[in-house]
Amino acid sequence: MTSQIAPENGKILIAPSILSADLWQLGTQVEMVRQAGADWIHVDVMDGHFVPNLSFGPATVKSLKGRAQLPLDVHLMVQHPSRFIVPFAKAGADLLTVHIEAADDVKDVLLAIKNLGVRTGLSIKPDTDPARIKPFLPLLDLVLVMTVQPGFGGQGFLPNSPVQIQAVRELINQADRPIYLEVDGGINAQTAHTAAQAGANVFVAGNAIFAAENPAQALADIRQAAQI
Ligand code: DX5
Ligand code: ZN
Repeated sequence: MTSQIAPENGKILIAPSILSADLWQLGTQVEMVRQAGADWIHVDVMDGHFVPNLSFGPATVKSLKGRAQLPLDVHLMVQHPSRFIVPFAKAGADLLTVHIEAADDVKDVLLAIKNLGVRTGLSIKPDTDPARIKPFLPLLDLVLVMTVQPGFGGQGFLPNSPVQIQAVRELINQADRPIYLEVDGGINAQTAHTAAQAGANVFVAGNAIFAAENPAQALADIRQAAQI
């Protein structure tokens, strides 16, 4: 699965977030978005410290591994993420994203992820200066720009997000290596278009897909809006 996660120029990827899925029927929901054309499955991990909410752990990733038939994009919203790299790698994460605000030693944690053969991601919250990611770009496969305050699905896309995305896009272009630019929070067809114009190419969507009357149509609409 890991090879599927290598950045491809110009390709738009959609990563439905299972935080908004009906967990009574998680497998069915994942299969539904896979058939609708989802590229990755986004798994939000929350620890009740870094964000004021709790969600999934390695056991969820293990249940999805292989059966989801899509790469597992694991977003660690946890304090001291170095504690959890090995369990999530063992469970089958294809990509592990940590928050720059949460890691004691960002370089060490990214190297630990890489050494386990997992793709690396680094995320910034809406108020974090994008320039902070610069030293870590040589170690990254993905930068995740939060477009809401992390912790909950169903929030509105923050108005300053395009400025953050553009700043990260410039840094990635200067880095001159393939690094995904993912956006997460309040993404629907309208905001996906705005985010794509600012330079995003991976779109996480929870509510806009799983709470839609027609999730397959919602996913297709986001993809179309993001193709600029
Ligand atoms: C928020 C999470 C998101 C969340 C997005 O902290 O990181 O992945 O599921 O949900 P929506 O798309 O509903 O804003
Ligand atoms: Zn997320």
